[in-house]
Amino acid sequence: MPCVQCLLPMQPLERAPLQLKDQLKDHTLPVDQIPDHCPVPLSESRKQELIEEITAQLTARDAVLIAHYYVAGEIQDLAEATGGFVSDSLEMARFGKRHNASTLIVAGVRFMGETAKILSPEKRVFMPTLKAECSLDLGCPPDEFEAFCDEHPDRTVVVYANTSARVKARSDWVVTSSVALPIVEHLHARGEKILWAPDRHLGRYIQLKTGADMMLWRGACVVHDEFKTKGLLDLKKLYPEAGVLVHPESPEDVIALADAVGSTSGILKAATELPHNTFIVATDKGMFHKLKQKNPHKRFIEAPTAGDGATCKSCAHCPWMAMNRLQVLADTLASATQMIANEIHVNPEVGQRAMVPLNRMLDFRV
Ligand code: 13P
Ligand code: SF4
Repeated sequence: MPCVQCLLPMQPLERAPLQLKDQLKDHTLPVDQIPDHCPVPLSESRKQELIEEITAQLTARDAVLIAHYYVAGEIQDLAEATGGFVSDSLEMARFGKRHNASTLIVAGVRFMGETAKILSPEKRVFMPTLKAECSLDLGCPPDEFEAFCDEHPDRTVVVYANTSARVKARSDWVVTSSVALPIVEHLHARGEKILWAPDRHLGRYIQLKTGADMMLWRGACVVHDEFKTKGLLDLKKLYPEAGVLVHPESPEDVIALADAVGSTSGILKAATELPHNTFIVATDKGMFHKLKQKNPHKRFIEAPTAGDGATCKSCAHCPWMAMNRLQVLADTLASATQMIANEIHVNPEVGQRAMVPLNRMLDFRV
């Protein structure tokens, strides 16, 4: 399996002892708490109207649109067409920090808006809707997490960016999936023991790659947790020439079948640089928009999930990312009440503490 950073073959995954904290409760989000998300498609003419309205509002508000790869393709295109940005969660954070617009509109999920606000407290940060959550963030309640950290004062606290401001504020390091591996390698080389939260699969992957002593919180992404080995092996039989690209929030046995494992930007890079013409992709289906744009001659196939799209939980599309729709964005920008309702606020004292581990991540040089 090549590393998505250098694309050279990596050592096979070594078995390492599991260190899930046994007495810790399983924080995987129950299925009844996952919202439905089947948007009604818009006509082309309505899309155009909304795009024009949003573009005018962005200019009037001195605002820049920053979108994640998982949101609707038309929002990604609009971000790029209006001088904004589309990327993974790490580069969204960097872009928002260095851009000189007074207002940031973050199309993604709430932790992304909060990260932008923490890094740029002087800017106003809005989202199309603050209902856009993340199962990892929801599965790591700050009070419980702080108590867990207090029980393990000897461990360096490393948290995934998919967490609340308070959880970040309690951490020593924040990481995204783009930089988690080199940062944990660095900490391990310094002899530090790690307390990791909240994604158990990403934590497990990093533990296997680095050999670090990691205690893992038991959270999961409801989208990536659904990818299944059996379906993937069956699909591989149909497309034996296909490369397999996997986001490391997926289960360990799915990761083991990958030709490349990486963050959303890592997956994009691997799709472009690996020689395969066909790929099976285990990540949110929003990713396919940019994968196809960048690689028009390659074929991308969705990796199978538990329900093969039969239920909202198993459709390989994040229910909260799906809330970022053109209509919702246009409605928010057009209404003073909606803008007030969808502004990101972070307690300044919490924000100041969370800024330290976030900047540590941004300043880390691989
Ligand atoms: P990336 O950091 O790879 O963009 O991932 C964010 C995320 O939420 C994936 O589910
Ligand atoms: Fe969170 Fe998963 Fe959605 Fe990413 S895809 S925002 S990890 S629920």
